Amino acid sequence: MGTEKNVQGNTALKYVSLVTLTVQNSAVALSMRYARTRPGDMFIASSAVVVAEFVKLLASLLLVYKQEGSIQHWFMTLNTQIWQQKIDTLKVCVPSFIYLIQNNLLYVSASNLDAATYQVTYQMKILTTAMFAVLILHKQLRGTQWLSLLLLTFGVALVQLSSVDKGVTAANIGQNRLLGFVAAVSACCCSGFAGIYFEKILKGSDVSVWVRNVQLSFLSVPLGVMTSYANDYAAITDKGFFYGYDAYVCYLVVLNAVGGLLVAMVVKYADNILKGFATSLAIVISTVASVFLFDFVITFQFAIGTTLVIGTIFLYSHEPKKPASNPMSGNWALHVGLPSTLLADKEAGQHRRWKELTLLYSSILLTKLIFTVQHLA
Ligand code: C5P
Repeated sequence: MGTEKNVQGNTALKYVSLVTLTVQNSAVALSMRYARTRPGDMFIASSAVVVAEFVKLLASLLLVYKQEGSIQHWFMTLNTQIWQQKIDTLKVCVPSFIYLIQNNLLYVSASNLDAATYQVTYQMKILTTAMFAVLILHKQLRGTQWLSLLLLTFGVALVQLSSVDKGVTAANIGQNRLLGFVAAVSACCCSGFAGIYFEKILKGSDVSVWVRNVQLSFLSVPLGVMTSYANDYAAITDKGFFYGYDAYVCYLVVLNAVGGLLVAMVVKYADNILKGFATSLAIVISTVASVFLFDFVITFQFAIGTTLVIGTIFLYSHEPKKPASNPMSGNWALHVGLPSTLLADKEAGQHRRWKELTLLYSSILLTKLIFTVQHLA
């Protein structure tokens, strides 16, 4: 009975985290683009990255407290799993630093690419994640997965080429598209490596995902301050660390922090297949929205490229049916740690329900978007 309740609780968390990640992914691409192109005092991007890490640290500490139930247990867990395990904590330095570089690169990319191109290009992280999964985790890929990775690269190239001779709009004056593209591709490499490395340490020990996130942000904050000063010393000493901060920048910082926690939650409660659904849906939403918000023009080539990217995400994520005798082989089963029989019974139905939910949810979002745009017009 108790286990049944747990299953329902985890299922609810799975859907909540996926749906929220979809909304967050759509919102963050548009919001970052707006923040870097709007008129007025421009905030220092590296400072926004550090503040987001700090927000994540506080949130992760709170989540560990919620997990432990009392101040005493909270303190003991942090002491035994972080302070007394110094080597283990240092291991988290690697993804922590890489994520920091990634988060800075994403600002460079958002400053130089339109929101739609930025987000489609950033989907190449599926390719880099697969590459590092093969190299580090020795994962074997199916033929359809290699094919989907090839098509993905082709789709991204189409999207990139479609916007090469785009007219100059108010939002893209003074931008360097090549720099934006290189930054996005480098962020994909960081995402793939850090994601797989983090998965390796998460699965290789009993330490909870929130404790891992405390370690991650605990190291990111000082590393971020150093990187920020190394990159923007002149701007920080001249204008101040919080130059250009207003309510909108605070919203962006919190949105980015929430995104990081959602990624961690999706890894824990869902799986990569479902994360693919969430991010591909987010591309559609932000592409449609940038048409209205940033005068983005959808060309035939862009549409084909985006369709290819979304299609390949589904192709890559499609898993042939596994034999019933091995229900624990699913990735998420290991994270959630549920009894195998319950998992086997529920998994197929849950995937079907998620597809229905995705369709329903995307229709609601698109309808809302059209109404909002009509209202603004
Ligand atoms: O999936 P993707 O690589 O795009 O997401 C990475 C983002 O999530 C980074 O901003 C990173 O700081 C954050 N993250 C996190 N906690 C994790 C994993 C990622 O905050 N456990």
